[in-house]
Amino acid sequence: LGEKLAEKLRPGTVIVFKAGLGAGKTTLTQGIARGLGVQDTVTSPTYTIIAEYRGRLPFYHIDLYRIDGEEELDRLGLREILYGDGVSAVEWSEKLGDEIPENALRIEITFLSGTERKIEVAGLEP
Ligand SMILES: Nc1ncnc2c1ncn2[C@@H]1O[C@H](COP(=O)(O)OP(=O)(O)OP(=O)(O)O)[C@@H](O)[C@H]1O
Ligand SMILES: [Mg+2]
Repeated sequence: LGEKLAEKLRPGTVIVFKAGLGAGKTTLTQGIARGLGVQDTVTSPTYTIIAEYRGRLPFYHIDLYRIDGEEELDRLGLREILYGDGVSAVEWSEKLGDEIPENALRIEITFLSGTERKIEVAGLEP
C-alpha cells in the first residue's frame, strides 16, 4: 500500500497519521519510502525526530511522539520542511495542532487484530 501511495505523491505533500501506538505508522512509511525510490533503510525516528532521505523527491520521516509544545516545532525548523518541496510523513501529527496543512494526506490506521489493520486514506487527489 505504501508503494502504491508513493506513486501519487507530489512535491510538498504532507502525510499525517491518525493511529495509536504500534498501529503500523513506521511500517507503512517504509513502504512509502521504498515507493519513492529511497534506498536507505528507514528506521523509527522516535529519538531523532526528523530523518531525511533521498528518493525521487526528498523524503522526511518525522515522529513527534516526544515533542512538547509549539516552541519546539519552531526550534526543529519543522515549518520549513512541511511547507517545502519534499514529501513528509508525520507520526503523532496531532502535536502539530493548527499546523497540519489543510491539504494533508490523512491516513488512519485501526487495529483489527494482532496481524490485521484497517487503513483509511483521505485527501488523495485523483
Ligand atoms: N499493516 C500491518 N498489519 C499487521 N501488522 C503490522 C502492520 N503494520 C505494522 N505491523 C506490526 O505492528 C508493529 C508496530 O509497527 P510500527 O512500528 O510500524 O508501528 P508504529 O505505529 O510506527 O508504532 P509507534 O507508535 O511505536 O511509532 C510491528 O510489529 C509491525 O510488524
Ligand atoms: Mg513508529
